Amino acid sequence: MHAYILKESGPELRVAASPESTKKMVEMGLSVSVQTTAGDKSNFSDESYAASGAEIFENTTEITNADIVIKVNKPTNEEISSMKDGALFIGSLDPYNSNETISNLKEKGVTSFAMELMPRITRAQSMDILSSQSNLAGYKAVIDATHLFNKAMPMMMTAAGTIAPAKVMVFGAGVAGLQAIATAKRLGAIVSATDVRMAAKEQVESLGGKFVMVEDSESLDAETSGGYAKEMSDEFKAKQAQLISDTLATQDIAICTALIPGKKAPILISEEQVRSMKSGSIIIDLAAESGGNCECSIAGEIKNINGVLVVGSKDITSTISEDASALFSKNILNFLSLLIDSESKTINIDWEDEIIQGILVTKNKEIVHKELV
Ligand code: NAI
Repeated sequence: MHAYILKESGPELRVAASPESTKKMVEMGLSVSVQTTAGDKSNFSDESYAASGAEIFENTTEITNADIVIKVNKPTNEEISSMKDGALFIGSLDPYNSNETISNLKEKGVTSFAMELMPRITRAQSMDILSSQSNLAGYKAVIDATHLFNKAMPMMMTAAGTIAPAKVMVFGAGVAGLQAIATAKRLGAIVSATDVRMAAKEQVESLGGKFVMVEDSESLDAETSGGYAKEMSDEFKAKQAQLISDTLATQDIAICTALIPGKKAPILISEEQVRSMKSGSIIIDLAAESGGNCECSIAGEIKNINGVLVVGSKDITSTISEDASALFSKNILNFLSLLIDSESKTINIDWEDEIIQGILVTKNKEIVHKELV
């Protein structure tokens, strides 16, 4: 069985296998080939892959022999045309925005897996690229904010006077948001956060953050007996929106991480709210590539609105590529161990497995994922 690791293109600086994961793949019984310079931007040299037992290849056309093709991002049309009928593709497919790629994979007979569709179950945690990458993105968002912010984060009491701690508000307390809270706390900021999931309250508080939520009899009874969120009254929603607005106006930094899988990100900060913030404040919008949580953000751009910098983050994990690649590679390796029988060292896929069914996009010249057909 031959696995090929492709080099990424454009602004993407990550790679889908590290020398460490390559070594483990070889131990699993795979022959591994890595495209030349694929790991350079993550500080993994061709020599380090060769030392892990990989062959180095030059041209994409060489993947005609591949049983498994692995990449961080979706394959190009040229790469798909070089794959053989029946090959497996493993990587991110950006499945809701990739009709042409998915159709080409289908026509070619490639069995493709979109790693970002990984089900949120305990067994799949070690294969979840959204979690591993979001965690780093949440950390880096706070670091980027401190870099642009022309004040200090912690409180400092000096002979020359006292510096007040920065106030950081995090929108969305999922994986990225919780890491942003933890990072901002470590830097000494006063942190608050908001989320639509009440379960996030306890997690935010356990990290030392304040959960911004109207506390009245309705919010205290916001869950059904089955643990699901109840639809809140319009009166409650208006009170909550006002509380968020009032809180945001007092903040120095806002980190936006709220996403709805497969959909445009919810707008949580209007231009009017941006204008209500003090000059010198920073908004880092990690949701910018999905439309943005701030209505002013544009992915890849920094806008100055009344002295408030609105940063539309783009490819943020590429700015921390060595760690991002190492974790992504581990996710891929853990997924491969589900596909490869450790005794016979051959590909043996349980098509009924919840994980396989959750991320399988094309098979036998059909699009099989229920949300994509
Ligand atoms: P995500 O990246 O899809 O969204 C980020 C956060 O934004 C979520 O917490 C979401 O509730 C919040 N959000 C969405 N709309 C919002 C709005 N209008 N206002 C405020 N917040 C809003 O989610 P993520 O970070 O990938 O994971 C969410 C949850 O799933 C977490 O509790 C996490 O622990 C859990 N999870 C479980 C996994 C597993 O069991 N394998 C793996 C990864 C996450």
